[in-house]
Parts: sequence; C-alpha cells; structure tokens
Amino acid sequence: MAEFTTNLVHGPAVNDNQTGAVATPVYKATTYAFSAIGAPVKYDYSRSGNPTRLAVEKQLATLEGGGQAFTFASGMAAIHAALAIFKAGDHIIVGNQIYGGTFRLFHQFFERWGLTFTSVDLRDPDQLAQAVQKNTKAIYFEPVTNPLLEVISVRQVTDFAKAHHLLTLVDNTFLSPALMQPLKLGADIVIHSATKYLAGHSELSAGVVVANDPKLADQVYFIQNALGAILSPEGANELTRGIKTLQLRINQQQVNACQLVRFLKSRTEVDRVYYPGLPDQPGYAILQTEAKGAGAVVAFELTASQDPVKFVNHLRLFTRAVSLGAVESLVELPSKMSHAELSPTEQLAAGIKPGLIRLAVGIEDAKDLITDLSQAFTKANKKGA
Ligand SMILES: Cc1ncc(COP(=O)(O)O)c(C=O)c1O
Repeated sequence: MAEFTTNLVHGPAVNDNQTGAVATPVYKATTYAFSAIGAPVKYDYSRSGNPTRLAVEKQLATLEGGGQAFTFASGMAAIHAALAIFKAGDHIIVGNQIYGGTFRLFHQFFERWGLTFTSVDLRDPDQLAQAVQKNTKAIYFEPVTNPLLEVISVRQVTDFAKAHHLLTLVDNTFLSPALMQPLKLGADIVIHSATKYLAGHSELSAGVVVANDPKLADQVYFIQNALGAILSPEGANELTRGIKTLQLRINQQQVNACQLVRFLKSRTEVDRVYYPGLPDQPGYAILQTEAKGAGAVVAFELTASQDPVKFVNHLRLFTRAVSLGAVESLVELPSKMSHAELSPTEQLAAGIKPGLIRLAVGIEDAKDLITDLSQAFTKANKKGA
C-alpha cells in the first residue's frame, strides 16, 4: 500500500487504457457493446458504470482508507443519495451547525418523505443521549463547522453511535481526506462536496459518498444508479486532476492560514479569531488526535471601530464569494452572504455577529494577502483614519 501523497498522484490502475496514456482517458460513450446477447460485460450504460468515473471512485476509496466510493454531480446530490438509504419513519440526529443547503434538504425535502431530524450540539454528550428515539437510525454531522469552526470529535460520536446501533454519516468537506479520514475513526459513511478541496480550482461541482460496509455500499450504488445524479466523465477527469495536487495545495493553504491568523491576532481592529489550529481554541485538542491539520478556513470578528461591509468591499486580492478549498482566496460576510437566510435573531443565536468575516485561504503568497487585509482595515475604519 503506497503512501497517501503517492495515491493522490497515481490512484489504482483500473482504467481500460489500451494505449499507455499516462492520464486516465475520458470515456464519453454513454452505452457499451455486448459481444453477444447474454455475454458478460463490465460496462453496459454510462449512468450505471463508467471507466473514468470508476477510476476516481476507486482512488477516493483508497484515499479515505477503505470502503467503496461513489461520485455525484454536486455535494448536495451526494448528500441526497446518502440520506436516501433511509426510509419513511426513520429519525436522524443532526449536528446543529451544518451547511445551510443540507439543512434545507433535510427539512424542506426529506421531511416530506417521512424522515424526521433532531438538531443537537454534538459536543454535549447529554444532548446527544437525550435526542435518541426508538426510531433513530443515524447521526449526521460536520466535524468542523461553518462559519465558527467548532470541532466535534468523530471518535466520540462514533463510539456513542456504535453503542446505540446507529450509523454515523460525516460530511468532511472542511478537512478533506488529506487531513482526516473519518472511516478510520469509526464513521460508516463519509461525504464530501468535492467542489471544494478535492477538485480545488473553483471550476467543478462534484460530490462523493464513501461507504465502509459492502451492504451500505450496495445501497448507495443502487441509489446512484436509480436516481442518476452521477458525476460526468469530464467531471471525473477534472476531479482526478484536482486530486493529484490536493496535498500540495492544502499544505500551502494551511501555511497561509496560520500566517493570516497570526497577523489577525496582532491587529487591534480584530476582536476574535476562530481557527481550530490555534492551541487556545476548544477544538484544537480534538484535531490534534483525529486530524492532521485544521484546514484553511479562518473566521474573525471585527471590532466596533470597523465597518464590516466596507472592509469586505475594499479587499482586492480576496474575491468576495462563498465556497472554500480552492487555490484562490475568498472572503465572505456570513451575515449577508452564506447565512443571510437566517433572521438577525437566528444569526445571533448561532453566534454569527454582523462583524464576522470568513476567509477561505488559497495558495497565493501570504505577504500579499496580509497587505490586502491591512489596506482594507484602514479603509473600513469608521473614524475615517
Ligand atoms: C460542508 C458542505 N457540505 C456540502 C456542501 C454542498 O456542496 P455542493 O455545493 O458541491 O453541492 C457544501 C457547499 O458549500 C458545504 O460547505
């Protein structure tokens, strides 16, 4: 078994390449020939199986440390497929800080199909224990939450889940397999919005479900084929390319994130910095044992002397955009962008103040990113200094 970074570059040799092409070919054919009626075939129809997609799926399973991986047209399609293994009447416990699109899918879609959900702060074992019902089947959560970067112990949740015969589903978009492999911590299903770190260049929407147990994997495969929200061969090719540089990108993104965190902590315009790679943060100790890093999303609160809208509007190098995990640095104002659907009261209850800024740090030179933040602080000073 090769090391993780080697597996990123090579992946398993699973394609049908007859030509010696170094990169996995893009098989665009939608249908495949039978040599004779009744003859066995490896592929018959591209929705059911495609060599380019299969190559990246096998690679993703290797990177996650086991199981079987399935790729989808977006992170939401992956989450939809993972949740579709449940049936009407099932109850699922959900971390109370999950991606807004996931919250919407659960409450505005799956509730209509008879699933029920209870949101809890999974850092509190009592809340988790109280949420279990007779029909509870699973726990679903994101180990590093958005936008406040709180950390939930995957090990603690999976231990609890196993003791109660529940499945654990982990959306690990914020860390990627380069930093955490939840299956190894006891999770049953890992989900990614591969749109983020895995693809890494802000030009591909993709999703991944990795299931540990072959029976669960069969269920996910059935849904992938039955619902049909597959990743296209071209998408699989782009994802393969992105994966090759995952470790290099994330290493640089984390180095940059740490430099920005140090800079932000030195500034009088900043009230508080949220980054679980800092020893003074509550999640730090968990990530030390369960992950290889804290990722490259950093949040911070401006003091009252700063105008947050002006601050974000004056940034030049950081692009004002939601999303994360790509090579270019992005900035967003959660109260007006990613979490704008919440009322001001709901935002405050979730800890999202008007002056909270979220950075998704890229691979640029950190000096330039710091210069950009510095000039925006000056421009956003309410006293006009
Ligand atoms: C943690 C998390 N999960 C899932 C998704 C959904 O992924 P996609 O946008 O690829 O559908 C996102 C998107 O931002 C996300 O941040």
